Amino acid sequence: MPDLIPDSSRFPSSLAPLPSEGEGNRGKGDFISASAEETRRIGAQIASELKPGDCLLLVGELGAGKTTLVQGLAQGLGIRETVRSPTFVLMHEYHGRIPLYHFDAYRIKNLEELLEIGFEDTVRSEGVTVIEWGEKTEQLLPRGCWRIFIELLPDQRRRIRVERPHAPST
Ligand SMILES: Nc1ncnc2c1ncn2[C@@H]1O[C@H](COP(=O)(O)OP(=O)(O)O)[C@@H](O)[C@H]1O
Ligand SMILES: [Mg+2]
Repeated sequence: MPDLIPDSSRFPSSLAPLPSEGEGNRGKGDFISASAEETRRIGAQIASELKPGDCLLLVGELGAGKTTLVQGLAQGLGIRETVRSPTFVLMHEYHGRIPLYHFDAYRIKNLEELLEIGFEDTVRSEGVTVIEWGEKTEQLLPRGCWRIFIELLPDQRRRIRVERPHAPST
């Protein structure tokens, strides 16, 4: 799927590739990021593996770097617009090789709020849906999603653990 590979001139391949899905490594990936820029590059690498219809849950405390990772995902999907947190509007939509629907469930009090803005349609669409605080929306997710856990470490570092969907998403 060469059309999904990010423009390598914009994303230097200084990072190791995502761990392969070979023996003992299926569905797993673990990174240490030392900076926001590195977190964006990791996001762009993840984007190179995404297919229409994929969904990703981002799990991590406030300030962990979820929105920063989405900025990288967006770059990797060829989106030129600036990605900002959708904390107050709950969802932003961007247009690249694949449409990107960026949700933030931090402020929601109940899942109705997401249903009202069409969450179920976007998650079943041919776009990519990414959800910050995605663990709050598990009940609404109809199929295997990527799960990305971001953990704060000392010195601005982050541990980013990537779990691929266990089953095909289509
Ligand atoms: N290694 C890193 N990865 C991600 N963000 C980092 C890192 N180091 C520092 N930061 C900073 O931490 C903040 C993360 O904010 P943000 O991405 O909005 O978090 P969240 O969406 O999880 O609340 C940003 O200001 C970013 O510049
Ligand atoms: Mg955020």
